[in-house]
Amino acid sequence: MARILVVDDEEGVRSFLAEALECEGHSVTTAADGDEAARLLAKQGVDLLLTDLKMPGLDGLSLLRKVREEQPDVEVIVLTAVGSVESAVAAMKAGAFEYLTKPVSSPAELRLTVARALEHRALLNWKAETRQVAGEVVLSWGAPAMSPVVEALRKVAPTQATVLLMGESGTGKEVAARALHQWSERADGPFVAVNCAALTETLLESELFGHEKGAFTGAVAQRRGRIELAQGGTFFLDEVGELKAELQAKLLRVLQERRFERVGGTRTLEADVRWVAATNRDLKAMMARGEFREDLYHRLAVFPIRLPPLRERREDLRPLAELLLRRIGEELGRPGLRLSPEASERLVAFPWPGNVRELRNALERAAILADGPVVEPRHLWLDPTGAAAPVAAPAPAAEGGRVPDTTLEALERMAIEQAIAAEGGNRKRAAQRLGIGLRTLYDKLRRYGMQ
Ligand SMILES: Nc1ncnc2c1ncn2[C@@H]1O[C@H](COP(=O)(O)OP(=O)(O)OP(=O)(O)O)[C@@H](O)[C@H]1O
Ligand SMILES: [Mg+2]
Repeated sequence: MARILVVDDEEGVRSFLAEALECEGHSVTTAADGDEAARLLAKQGVDLLLTDLKMPGLDGLSLLRKVREEQPDVEVIVLTAVGSVESAVAAMKAGAFEYLTKPVSSPAELRLTVARALEHRALLNWKAETRQVAGEVVLSWGAPAMSPVVEALRKVAPTQATVLLMGESGTGKEVAARALHQWSERADGPFVAVNCAALTETLLESELFGHEKGAFTGAVAQRRGRIELAQGGTFFLDEVGELKAELQAKLLRVLQERRFERVGGTRTLEADVRWVAATNRDLKAMMARGEFREDLYHRLAVFPIRLPPLRERREDLRPLAELLLRRIGEELGRPGLRLSPEASERLVAFPWPGNVRELRNALERAAILADGPVVEPRHLWLDPTGAAAPVAAPAPAAEGGRVPDTTLEALERMAIEQAIAAEGGNRKRAAQRLGIGLRTLYDKLRRYGMQ
């Protein structure tokens, strides 16, 4: 799943770690010292570095500093001998995610620490993605279908009321959440988001509430949770429908009492945040099936707002497409990009199951394909069946009457393969190209058995 580089001057340690991690499905490379590791890091992609500290030549701490500086995307776990606490502390200060004491006797501890480091990385990547969205809160809400929505957002923004944003994927829930923040009195405070689907339950709990030192294996230091980080600002609970029962109960308490404790802690902290939640699931139906707590639903849906899918706001399509294309043109350094009247018509007629996100992706592809300033229908790759086909060439003719595989899964597989190929194997950029999170990409790769 992840690419891990193990660095230790002892052959026994290297092979033990490599074997344990390979069993987990990771692809592992090993190096016997810091210099070899630095060479490997320079030429191959690595998600996680597991390094000993005391080694001949370039030592672990210097290697760590080098990686932090040159490849901030790589997560680092250091290995320290028992009793050398100072070096572990120095490594943590230099940006290591965690340390493990040698001899590493428990594969379970190793697995857990590695899993946490990788999840942490996924979370940071995800944050970086949302930061990109942040610079992009340019809204096109002019259409008749959107005006009641915008009015509702404007009216509720300056209040403290909890808002529940509902809508299909890609309809702009996150954009709306950021607008609520910007139009509120908390605009100068932080906007902190947590995607409830992106993390495992335990991690999500400590991510939300923070934890005290020793609260669980791996909790080597106290850590503040995101609710604390959001003090005075807005807290965005994305994909709230994915919360498991236990966390639903914990969240309910914070919403009701505006207080909480860190995991493993006894001190009660105040939650001075404005809550905004979003979901693309039907929470009422989930409630009826007993999957979502009724009391939590009512706490969240104090002010529910539904973002209509694009197919319900056709009037919005043309201005929205033009706006998005202008911004894409700015990003690509090609001002003056525009739609031909025929292309514009095709866009308006298309059903857009992936909503604004899909529209944006289609326009970006079209902009890249179009050599001149005008986007024509042939640049748009719109499949008449409703799914935007990510292929340049027409599908191969059906052999012996066999219908070509146009299931969503097949199209998705193809899109993923092409994106990964187009980005030279870089998963993060492939995910960006596809307009999905890195974690979602990994999930799909796993689900479809694509290594
Ligand atoms: N009104 C809008 N104006 C400009 N851009 C928009 C608008 N609505 C959505 N977008 C763009 O569409 C993309 C998807 O929006 P967003 O991430 O807010 O959707 P979402 O509803 O949160 O989707 P998901 O449920 O999949 O997370 C983003 O690139 C966003 O910038
Ligand atoms: Mg979203």
